[in-house]
Amino acid sequence: MKNRLIGKDILRIEKLSKTEITQIWNQAAEYERLYKTDRLPLLQVMKGLVLATVFAQPSTRTRLSFESAMLRLGGQVISIADSQTSSLAKGESFLDTGRVVGGTADSAGLADVIVCRSAIPKSVDELARGSLAPVISGGQGTDQHPTQAILDGKTIIDERRRIQNLSFCFMGDLKNGRTVHSLLPLISKWPNNTVYLVSPEGLRMPKEILAKYRSQVRMIETSDVRKIIQNCDVLYCTRVQKEYMTKEEQRAAEREPYFVDMNLIEYANKQRAEKDRITILHPLPRVDELRIEPEKYKPLAIFRQAANGIWTRAAELALITGRV
Ligand code: NCD
Repeated sequence: MKNRLIGKDILRIEKLSKTEITQIWNQAAEYERLYKTDRLPLLQVMKGLVLATVFAQPSTRTRLSFESAMLRLGGQVISIADSQTSSLAKGESFLDTGRVVGGTADSAGLADVIVCRSAIPKSVDELARGSLAPVISGGQGTDQHPTQAILDGKTIIDERRRIQNLSFCFMGDLKNGRTVHSLLPLISKWPNNTVYLVSPEGLRMPKEILAKYRSQVRMIETSDVRKIIQNCDVLYCTRVQKEYMTKEEQRAAEREPYFVDMNLIEYANKQRAEKDRITILHPLPRVDELRIEPEKYKPLAIFRQAANGIWTRAAELALITGRV
């Protein structure tokens, strides 16, 4: 299959076609297979290339899985893991940071591909505008987190064998959670999906996002998870994004706590066969909202989901740098 992703930035899910997303999943599955049969170290497809991770916001999985992916494919990594140690703290713009790290038409860059995360709206877009090297968003404010949605999509296919004709429950902070803001456009590309949106009153999915995808995916808002959970194939739980809230908003969110425990899951599975039990996903980190452990419930897929971050990100790096 022709690689359509060469030189492309990955900033928003709407900018990727179904074919491109499927190509990432297929390549990811191939890397996963090679890893499991000890053949991945022989591949070295990223040899001679440098990845720069520019993270102006905390991260465990996203930064480390990109770096691990690059190293496993034989490439090398340079990193700003904390913006306080870089010139961003002196007030340097994301545009200039992009020009320096990713190079321009007449100045060599420090890296061949960049992953950037920031809390500031449009900052990753700005960095991408400056950089000649392709840029992947590792999460931009409350806006989007496209590579999380791509790894979520692979996990949904691994766990449910399809990504259409499914019912999802998105639960938690749907206002500020960028993972659900990317997962919604992704699943709305495939037919006959339904999404139940369950959140405290003050943390509902923004109206503009609902309006944008309403014609492609059936969406139903509710504050009572018990009303809908027996209809759902996949529960996607998220934490409250306190870092984006004023003290008053935090207090309001605390007045409407929500959580998922075995009680709710047993209720969800009441009428189902063992093989159809509800799949539970969470982008992690979880705080207090998901109170189930993988040893107790096999369809809790959160650690298989996190591991998929390595393979999908390896695929993204290799495809956009043209090494596939
Ligand atoms: C998410 C993020 O940064 O948006 N983390 C991640 O990359 N898995 C989710 C979160 O922080 O809640």
